[in-house]
Amino acid sequence: MTQDASVFEYEEIDFVTGQPYPQWGRARERCPVIQTDGSMMGTPERSSYQITRWNDVESVLRDGHTFSSSINAEHIGQFMGELILAMDGKEHRAYRNLAAHAFRASQLERWGATAIEPAISEFLEEIAPLGRADLVRDITSRYPVRVICAIVGVPVSDSQQFHQWSEQINTGPLHPEVGMAASRAMREYLEPLVAARRERPQNDLLSDLVHAEIDGERLTDEKIYGFLRLLLPAGAETTFRVMGNALAALLAQPGVMQRVVADRELIPALIEETLRWESSVTQVSRVATTDTEVAGCPISAGSPVAVITASANHDETRYERAEEFDLDRPAQNHMAFGTGQHQCLGMHLARLELRVGLNAILDRLPNLRLDPEAEGVVIEGLAFRGPVQLPVVFDPA
Ligand code: HEM
Repeated sequence: MTQDASVFEYEEIDFVTGQPYPQWGRARERCPVIQTDGSMMGTPERSSYQITRWNDVESVLRDGHTFSSSINAEHIGQFMGELILAMDGKEHRAYRNLAAHAFRASQLERWGATAIEPAISEFLEEIAPLGRADLVRDITSRYPVRVICAIVGVPVSDSQQFHQWSEQINTGPLHPEVGMAASRAMREYLEPLVAARRERPQNDLLSDLVHAEIDGERLTDEKIYGFLRLLLPAGAETTFRVMGNALAALLAQPGVMQRVVADRELIPALIEETLRWESSVTQVSRVATTDTEVAGCPISAGSPVAVITASANHDETRYERAEEFDLDRPAQNHMAFGTGQHQCLGMHLARLELRVGLNAILDRLPNLRLDPEAEGVVIEGLAFRGPVQLPVVFDPA
């Protein structure tokens, strides 16, 4: 069966303001593998494919042999250096085992007290007396960045600079000179910190990365810097938007807000349902290593494949009323953190940040509600989704 985008009236979706779920819904029903001309993936000469159903998303992500991650090196890899997201097979396993050591449970517990709670308290302290805020501007866009800098061991006074380099590296494909300069500057900045941690380890992620050792293997410098350059885009941009989506869900449904304020045991369900309903990362990239097929659709070797994890999360064969946010939905795995070899390394950290952050907001900003004078809240975007603003009022402390 050839799947052609024209059979279901494929439309280009705006990267920043787009609403892709209706199109993915039509695709799951009529054309589960969308074939397009590949210009979106930077390969106009070659077809590219979008995978939209749960079962296909799961099997593609679990088959790293047929669907390689190496495509991730092409664009952003030039600026980030050696990138875990772009590795396959043995090389990926060895690197991941070493890096995973830094995210072990005992570290998470420690970070809760040393990095996560202080960051959210500081930001809430600033707005609590005011009775009015934009939770995106004042809290969610700042909190995960600060947490990652504290975890890595970058002095908090430099976190703005670190954040700026990270953004410039991330937009490197659009502005290559700026991206390369930021990549070099971040490395030069980190070199003395890495050297100091080699001499005298401290209780931070930098020390863990430098000293991690399995069977005599250690991370090379290139892999350490590659990992550090990835951490803010992978860990902060993602968590910040999911936090906004969870708050948007609460603010749009005052009844649900009241229940969660009164019963904090519901916070984990709020987080998991938000990750299913509106994750911040909607898709991950792979490239076919050989001629293959998905759901009967032939895919030739070398074709880019966008695996739409957010569409899998709305697959109506798996979730009833999949488009609705439902706090009482029976617990079931979702695809927000991917699956297979590259499943998100920071997912437990993200969940912890969300749990601590959302609890603190509900504690510190009583009677929290949308600002009646502001415009409504919209979650938007094609590949990354979140609200641009969350104007709220609350009882000032
Ligand atoms: C809610 C927040 C987050 C979401 C939705 C998210 C989503 C994802 C997804 C979908 C992948 C799979 C990529 C692929 O298969 O190609 C991934 C990988 C990854 N994530 Fe996250 N992530 C989040 C938070 C974090 C945090 C807090 C960190 C660390 C500080 C982190 C670090 C990573 C790393 C290092 C990888 C690469 C793993 C590998 O290639 O083996 N993420 N993330």
